[in-house]
Amino acid sequence: MSAKTAKLQIDGIDKVIELPIYEGTTGPDVLDVRGLVSEGVFTYDPGFVSTASCESEITFIDGGKGVLLHRGYPIEQLAEKATFLETCFLLLNGELPTPEQKTAFENTIRYHTMVDEHIHQFFKGFPKNAHPMAMLVGVVGALSAFYHDDLDIDDPTHRKLAAHRLIAKMPTLAAMCYKHSVGQPFMYPQNSMGFAENFLHMMFGTPCEEPNVSPTLAKAMDTIFLLHADHEQNASTSTVRLAGSSGANPYACIASGIAALWGPSHGGANEAVLEMLYEIGDESNIEEYIAKAKDKNDPFRLMGFGHRVYKNFDPRATVMRKICDEVLEELGVEDDPLFRIARKLEKIALEDEYFISKKLYPNVDFYSGIILKAIGIPTSLFTVIFATGRTPGWIAHWDEMLSHPYKIGRPRQLYKGHTPRDI
Ligand code: CMC
Repeated sequence: MSAKTAKLQIDGIDKVIELPIYEGTTGPDVLDVRGLVSEGVFTYDPGFVSTASCESEITFIDGGKGVLLHRGYPIEQLAEKATFLETCFLLLNGELPTPEQKTAFENTIRYHTMVDEHIHQFFKGFPKNAHPMAMLVGVVGALSAFYHDDLDIDDPTHRKLAAHRLIAKMPTLAAMCYKHSVGQPFMYPQNSMGFAENFLHMMFGTPCEEPNVSPTLAKAMDTIFLLHADHEQNASTSTVRLAGSSGANPYACIASGIAALWGPSHGGANEAVLEMLYEIGDESNIEEYIAKAKDKNDPFRLMGFGHRVYKNFDPRATVMRKICDEVLEELGVEDDPLFRIARKLEKIALEDEYFISKKLYPNVDFYSGIILKAIGIPTSLFTVIFATGRTPGWIAHWDEMLSHPYKIGRPRQLYKGHTPRDI
């Protein structure tokens, strides 16, 4: 029994139930309710707003203070001083790499960037206008067909290999989704390039031209991947853990995470932000859309605003806003009407009593959508970029779960249906 306990008295149960309380290294304490099932009651928490589903050492968020730490390091410092691949190493291994480890890790990732040629056949089956996320769910899930029989998920070296393959192949698959939609040949990875540079090369390069990737845009892309690398037990990561808890193939688990990410309340918000900006269309319409967002009878929400956990500025959004300024300046598109609408919307929402009182700040997706649009990435590919960045987080959580004793995830319910009846 832990030092601290909570006492629970339930009407109709003639005893006081003691619930152990556990302290994390930081953040709220948790009540251990696992023993309640033997008392004949369940806890009820739709949306998991008050439920810690696991123990983890990877990422910590203090939503009230706007803090995000990966293995203890603030996201702002990682964005300034580390690369995406160093952050991947950190998430997977618990420490930032030494210079030797960094070189070895980068070489390992390079070694795995190509995908099996048979994967090309999958793309041939997709319609040209297929949503890139639909293709990504399919092809990442399909990787399980290539890496299944000799995979032992109980062996840490096998898990590491799956992690490296996934981090390395995601940009290749993401770019293939784009190339398929525009009818251009797939570009093979260019392993002399950096991670983000290579991704932009596979996206925008063609076999008829010399590679030509702007270092500023490659740096911005790397930071975008880094800022998405992990976010503790969000919907897609929890989905990966839940799928993984049955012992499923890791590539299939990551595909399930990609599916969960797709929705507009989660990773799909960056795409929804741009759609909203197009719909607003002109600065003169902004007030009307702010009013719609505030109207209880209107389902419209300002996309890119609000967060389940952050009730203060999303620290990723602060970094993203800075990159946004740099990218718009580099590309000379600060005066683009769409970006002017975004700037004005941000200003009005930050000053409006409704958004202030509900603590609805711009989130990471608000700025990432604007930057990606400026870089020339089509809107429908935005969530694919998020998925590429989030892959190390998903796989680090999957690996962490499998490294310790774990149970299959199996929530219970409050049943409100019929009691037994005859046909
Ligand atoms: N525009 C207008 N009102 C909003 C918004 C918004 N974007 N977000 C929340 N509200 C209101 C909501 O109507 C509710 O009002 P009331 O208390 O009067 O009923 C209140 O704020 C609390 O909202 P909630 O839906 O209970 O909060 P939640 O924690 O369940 O939802 C959210 C969080 C992110 C789903 C929500 O803020 C939202 O839908 N935002 C827009 C979509 C978006 O940008 N999502 C990306 C999240 S960041 C990327 C990621 O980590 O996945």
